[in-house]
Amino acid sequence: MSEYKQNGTGDSSQTLPNMAHFWMPFTANKQFKTNPRLLVSAQGMYYTDIEGNKVLDATAGLWCCNAGHGRQEISQAVSQQISQMDYAPSFQMGHPLAFELAHKLSQLSPDGLDKVFFTNSGSESVDTALKMALCYHRANGQATRTRFIGRELGYHGVGFGGISVGGISNNRKTFSQQLLQGVDHLPHTLDIANNAFSHGLPPHGLDKAEVLEQLITLHGAENIAAVIVEPMSGSAGVILPPDGYLTRLREITQKHGILLIFDEVITGFGRVGAAFASERWQVTPDMITTAKAINNGAIPMGAVFVSNTIHDTCMHGPDELIEFFHGYTYSGHPVAAASALATLSIYEDEQLFERAKGLESYFEQAVHSLKGLPNVIDIRNTGLVAGIQLAPSDKGVGKRGYDIFDHCFRHGALVRATADIIALSPPLIVEKSQIDDMVNHITDAINAVG
Ligand SMILES: Cc1ncc(COP(=O)(O)O)c(C=O)c1O
Repeated sequence: MSEYKQNGTGDSSQTLPNMAHFWMPFTANKQFKTNPRLLVSAQGMYYTDIEGNKVLDATAGLWCCNAGHGRQEISQAVSQQISQMDYAPSFQMGHPLAFELAHKLSQLSPDGLDKVFFTNSGSESVDTALKMALCYHRANGQATRTRFIGRELGYHGVGFGGISVGGISNNRKTFSQQLLQGVDHLPHTLDIANNAFSHGLPPHGLDKAEVLEQLITLHGAENIAAVIVEPMSGSAGVILPPDGYLTRLREITQKHGILLIFDEVITGFGRVGAAFASERWQVTPDMITTAKAINNGAIPMGAVFVSNTIHDTCMHGPDELIEFFHGYTYSGHPVAAASALATLSIYEDEQLFERAKGLESYFEQAVHSLKGLPNVIDIRNTGLVAGIQLAPSDKGVGKRGYDIFDHCFRHGALVRATADIIALSPPLIVEKSQIDDMVNHITDAINAVG
């Protein structure tokens, strides 16, 4: 902890917890525990670390806190709900808040996607959507449609379904013998050679959507249930869809009766300057998976938005039959639902999705000003999200990215590193001066790390 001081009071009165027992997710545990980064409170655009230093949140936590931190409206709703009713089951039972929330969400979702299934996370939303696709095709008399098509570099969480359709090699390798059968992957759309430093949607790569036709020819449309993609890949380092690409995927899937699922766990709720990427890029899929910013990250929660057609087809059996043998103990949890309702009110009252769109060009210019710094090989952006890609150092892939991330944190800014890509996704309440601060932090870090 000796180098753990920077901009704040440096007050180390809070003692470190015993860190031996928490096996941390997606973390180099040994490295972290010898030099930890611990956050203890959060307000507005800032975290405070355990030594009292303020840390500018350039990542909305983990793409979650789009309304900023410490929102009283959310904590009051949570506290009120937990005292009124802490928990109620959703299996053959119900409570009004879950219905109210589903209704509100259906007003926000694209037309025709008016049904909502609640989960507790993005991973669960993805596995739910994949199961729904199978359920739908069976109910529709097309039970041979079981194959899924994902995309290279896609991230769809960590369930066996999600890693099977996902395309991040490290997340799959260890489990490779036990992944879902019958999954293919489209090529990813990252093309630095042709698209480096594009502003917004890159111009090249529409042809990558045509690979879908080849896969359909290979397997037969009658065997394919669904295509799942992130409209914009977040976790793999902010990879944007080429101009026209999502529309083309929609045309091809529609032509062949294949469902299209957009995984909007990151892009949902304002990140790309609209309620959903589907709205921003005017392509309506058959399902949308969400989580994270649905309730500002306050309580674990996710939701799948489902087309009326899928829902109604699955409802065709006798009234007393359970239509879909799937669900979670905490689906539509009352406290999570209360926090989501409060969050949606903030988004609406403060027009935060419009705010993200309004700040887009300022943010774009700010992040693209990093072009020309040592080792910066690409910058990508849309809405309030950006990826800054660096060449790997000769010490190995990911070392430079990690060092920049760590330098930023030790000096007062939380950014995200995926290999050698730095991702920015600030809360949508961010001020222009704070965007400047983020860029300054990254500039300093890039220069310092070399
Ligand atoms: C697109 C996408 N899908 C699914 C997930 C998984 O969400 P969770 O970590 O809540 O399971 C994530 C998480 O980052 C994501 O970005």
